Amino acid sequence: MKKILILAVAMVMLLSVSASALTVAFTQIGQESDWRTANTDNIKAAIEAEGWDYVYDDAQQKQENQVKALRNFISQNVDYILFTGVVSTGWDEVLKEVNESEIPLILVDRMPDNMADIQYAAAFGGDFVEEGRRMALWTANYVKKLGRENEELNVVILEGTTGADAASGRQEGITEILADYPNLKVIASQTGNFTRAEGQTVMESFLKAHDKIDVLLAHNDDMALGAIESIKAAGLVPGKDIIIVGCDAPKTAFDAILAGEMNATIECTPLYGPFVVDAIKRLEAGEDLGRNLMHPEESCFDAEGGIVYSLDGRLSEKAADKIGERVY
Ligand code: AHR
Repeated sequence: MKKILILAVAMVMLLSVSASALTVAFTQIGQESDWRTANTDNIKAAIEAEGWDYVYDDAQQKQENQVKALRNFISQNVDYILFTGVVSTGWDEVLKEVNESEIPLILVDRMPDNMADIQYAAAFGGDFVEEGRRMALWTANYVKKLGRENEELNVVILEGTTGADAASGRQEGITEILADYPNLKVIASQTGNFTRAEGQTVMESFLKAHDKIDVLLAHNDDMALGAIESIKAAGLVPGKDIIIVGCDAPKTAFDAILAGEMNATIECTPLYGPFVVDAIKRLEAGEDLGRNLMHPEESCFDAEGGIVYSLDGRLSEKAADKIGERVY
């Protein structure tokens, strides 16, 4: 019995020694949004809190920089690689190299389109199609609440980065739901690259090209916040003359909702740090986490709460009640 106990203690010690010496590398897309900054900070903090070494690379929105970073991580022989791709395609060769190196790959946030063909140890990301559905469904139900469901309303869309699943997925979800609401007519849809600056300039061009815009759906809140500046500059009242719905739910969007300048935001959490750390600990303990893409639970926030935003009938929450809990 004593021998078994000594063996068990030795094994636990061995495990904690090897876990404490881990090196975790992360290739981040860049810093295009409040979401991205929160994501970067959260993952760094979670890994460093474990006492693990953290290798970080900011690709500044360039796929070639991410490819370079992945190859560097392989030559450094890190213990884990965290990967989110700026676009979905073009990763076949480099991810094959990662697999050949046998360094466990953890997919975070955006998924590569060859996901089915590669080896990965865990995958955590947003359900982008569902987020798009929620943006459109919340809008349709809000329009109904305003008694405007029989009015023809012109919708413009600010899309995220072309080629990113976060953009194509949200657009797919929006399109799917809007097909059931012919009074909500999309008159323009263009990329604003997930940034505030481009959200502002593209919205400015929408406003110049169209006399009547009733609804703005922005694939992220940064673009919505940029667009608000253009709407004000055009002498219109954001949130009233134009219904504005974004995605992500950072504090800045809550502030805009409380100021009445934005109407709703669909949550897409950037807080993957604890999920990644938990996955690494379980992998170190020999667990197989399977191939499921895990989505964290997400919500929807607006001024009053109580609007149906999902096909399974969930109700939005009141931003004023939740702003105190926002950590990003
Ligand atoms: O991939 C997630 C998206 O990327 C977020 O919605 C956006 O803000 C970010 O930059």
